[in-house]
Amino acid sequence: MCGIVGYLGSRQAAPILLDGLSKLEYRGYDSAGVCVMSGGILRVAKAKGRLAVLNGLIDGGKAIEGTFGIGHTRWATHGAPSDVNSHPHMADAGKIAVVHNGIIENYMRLKQQLLKKGKHFQSETDTEVVANLIEYYYDKLKDFPRAVRRAVGQLEGSFALGILCQDLPGTMIAVKKESPLIFGYGDGENFIASDVPALLKHTRKIVHLLDGDIAIITKDSVQFYDAFFDRVERKIEYVDWDISAAEKCGFDHFMLKEIHEQPTAVKGTISPRIRDGRVVLDDIKISRDYLAGLKKIYIVACGSSYYVGCLGKYLLEKTCRIPVEPVLASEFRYSAPVMGEDTLVLVISQSGETADTKAAMMEAKRHHARTLAIVNVVGSAIALEADDVIYTWAGPEIAVATTKAFSTQLSVIYLITLYFAELLGTIEPAEYQSIVSEMTKLDQKISLCLTRENVAKIRYYAEQYFTARDAFFIGRNLDCGVCREGSLKLKEIAYIHSEAYAAGELKHGPISLIEDGTLVVAVCTVDALFDKAMSNLVEVQSRGAEVLGITTENREAEFKVKVPSVITVPETHPMLQPSLTIIPLQLFSYYVALLRNCDIDMPRNLAKSVTVE
Ligand code: M6R
Repeated sequence: MCGIVGYLGSRQAAPILLDGLSKLEYRGYDSAGVCVMSGGILRVAKAKGRLAVLNGLIDGGKAIEGTFGIGHTRWATHGAPSDVNSHPHMADAGKIAVVHNGIIENYMRLKQQLLKKGKHFQSETDTEVVANLIEYYYDKLKDFPRAVRRAVGQLEGSFALGILCQDLPGTMIAVKKESPLIFGYGDGENFIASDVPALLKHTRKIVHLLDGDIAIITKDSVQFYDAFFDRVERKIEYVDWDISAAEKCGFDHFMLKEIHEQPTAVKGTISPRIRDGRVVLDDIKISRDYLAGLKKIYIVACGSSYYVGCLGKYLLEKTCRIPVEPVLASEFRYSAPVMGEDTLVLVISQSGETADTKAAMMEAKRHHARTLAIVNVVGSAIALEADDVIYTWAGPEIAVATTKAFSTQLSVIYLITLYFAELLGTIEPAEYQSIVSEMTKLDQKISLCLTRENVAKIRYYAEQYFTARDAFFIGRNLDCGVCREGSLKLKEIAYIHSEAYAAGELKHGPISLIEDGTLVVAVCTVDALFDKAMSNLVEVQSRGAEVLGITTENREAEFKVKVPSVITVPETHPMLQPSLTIIPLQLFSYYVALLRNCDIDMPRNLAKSVTVE
């Protein structure tokens, strides 16, 4: 969601802020702004729209001189996207400037109180309340850090803040509660940012601020304080990403680059965890006795991560014989789930910052359920709070539409399934060996899905169908889980109304929507259900649907008898097939979106990590 960048040093701040914000564009935003201390006053420039608008407004930063400042990309929550609602926000008397990521839940109450005290407001945002509250205490205490501390003590909700005070040039205060914030050490200069890509050009020496932290920063120093305002040390981390991880490297879009990175990402996730033909999960401390006493596994996540959970249900239940229920994280807390010490809550999140998922996890902890998180971002909130963590080594994922994170999450589900099944003795050794052996080849088989020839074929079908108004994705069993993800991809990046259904469910209602020319993407790879899935497909075809089939290479001839438009993927062990089937669906959505001139990496209204509930 919103992106924050802050800079203090000797270089011109505005161009650095603009560049840092451009590296956070992937988070999703609708307006942008900067505030720079210039000639003794805090000068703000902000505008609705893409960064290019702001860039034009201040001539790439040249129009505001000054060597420290804060910048922001806003994803609207309180108040529509507009110039005035954009950040940074200035307090009434112009002494305090604030950028904010998160939501202040009690802002209306605070606003009423501040209005009574004579403060005026320009915007509809909760952030302007923060600026005015700090200024109110600053006027009373004449001490910037203490004023921030007093104000923060009154805020309810989630917030990462970057704050400047006109009377204290050269000092910035950063505050973190629930929304992510990083401090970056430079040489005679320092930085803050919402995420690593904004800092990569300048430093790799960072600190992840913890909840409750307040950092007082100058160009040469930083002091960290905890929620009690006690001085604390924070762990310095070194980012070892290759800078290319945050660049497009010749691809037209991050999404396409990340699709092509999947063989490497999957291999990087699986291979360190397979040793001598066995799955070894050093990452977690789960014993056979604990598993044997488990009554239930909940899988809690949002969006694509939830769809990984839906696939996980089939795999874990079938292989480990433990009841598994995937639940949308936003619903979990409010559905009174039955859980306790004999419940494992598997939490899946690429960002590790998704507010709904984190809240669901905390609810599980309150009920003494054990939490095991599958997370991509090291040091993220969910990773820090979970009892156990397994990282997906996908590397940074920039495109809003997830691809490689999805694939690596799925890989971790396979690893967990085999690991649990072996501990519980619910899998035959030969079957175990055959799955492990296929897992070690998964990256090569994903590469086969990405050959030039296969990509060209998918592009051809995208050209046939890109004008579709509606689409259905149908499949059975694991294919149904893949359909959910394929359908979400088409919705989010190509803006085509699309629904995923279990193929057998269609005739119970939704088939009434099928008419001449409706696009139906049918995934048929599950051997045991192939004939039934084909019958469902013929049912829609005979009602006028245009069917695009996805099946395995060995089924191509049989498939083509009924459906001429077909894309094939290599065969693997049936349990692992979703890792291959999803690839053409990702590419199909990508090329459909491209042909529809959509903003592929930053689809409208979407944010990469959703840090509000
Ligand atoms: O970071 P998370 O995995 O927790 O994010 C969950 C969803 O917001 C995310 O998967 C979303 O659905 C993606 N945009 C899908 O491409």
